[in-house]
Amino acid sequence: MLSNPASLIELDWAHFDPWAVMPVTHRISDHPRLQIEELVELAKRLESKGRIRAHTNAAEAGTSFSNAPDLHPVKQPLVRTMEHIAAAQAWMSLLNVQTDPIYRELVDEVLDSVQPNVELKDPGMSYRGGWIFVSSPKTVTPFHVDKEHNFILQIKGQKTIYVWEPDDVRVVSDRARDRFHSRHDRSLITWREEFRKLAHCFKVGPGQGAYMPSTSPHLVEVGDEPSITVSFTYYTDSTRRDSLIHKIRGRLSELGLDIPSAQGKGVFNNGLYFGARAARAATRAVYRATGRRVGEENAVYARAENA
Ligand SMILES: [Fe+2]
Repeated sequence: MLSNPASLIELDWAHFDPWAVMPVTHRISDHPRLQIEELVELAKRLESKGRIRAHTNAAEAGTSFSNAPDLHPVKQPLVRTMEHIAAAQAWMSLLNVQTDPIYRELVDEVLDSVQPNVELKDPGMSYRGGWIFVSSPKTVTPFHVDKEHNFILQIKGQKTIYVWEPDDVRVVSDRARDRFHSRHDRSLITWREEFRKLAHCFKVGPGQGAYMPSTSPHLVEVGDEPSITVSFTYYTDSTRRDSLIHKIRGRLSELGLDIPSAQGKGVFNNGLYFGARAARAATRAVYRATGRRVGEENAVYARAENA
């Protein structure tokens, strides 16, 4: 365990903008929980819960991120694949590691150390999660977006992270973001090779990484060595607000309404937000009355499927 919880992730906090991509450095490459032997033990615990995602090196930048494990399945047992990752030609992700008591401590150790700085500009941290990627050389994480803010940190080997700003409609349109939030559907998020020249391109090794705001499109390529990478993710008040606005925009657009661009439409978006909040409060009251789960995004930790 590292003794000093302060600043496990370093970045230019004076210029930190929660909705802008930034390079970071970190001090956790030697953390015992992130070495391959302990990750194999974690994989053994997560496999039976369906919390390992994997695909082969046949997946490319333009492969559907959501469908990559079905399109290019790893046929070998997953734990064994991880034990032989250098030659396995496989990409693996240990999902929702915060559900494991030992790795929940790691998630808290790292996010506790950045929370005071994050909260100065982006209050309301919730839904903490951890994701650990163990990859063979020359494998690819296909182009996609996620809902959470994300500190992605390189632990072992080299990677190239291509990431675009969360409001860059040249690579992901408002409509695609609306659809992603309203239906968790990434089908309108499609790759074109010319996007590369529009990206922030971070070539990272151990001790380096990036901050990627909610719905920043990204594509990650592993170098010539096996790679270990960890992502620490969370929601805040601002991600919940942004997600709700896009969700309502998506539903209105399904009704055939012509929705203005999400950029520079503060009054329209505020109207959507406060209207949606009122509707959601009414829905939650009904849920509570009928004993159903509510307020999930405000939970301290991300909920995993099958939890
Ligand atoms: Fe991602």
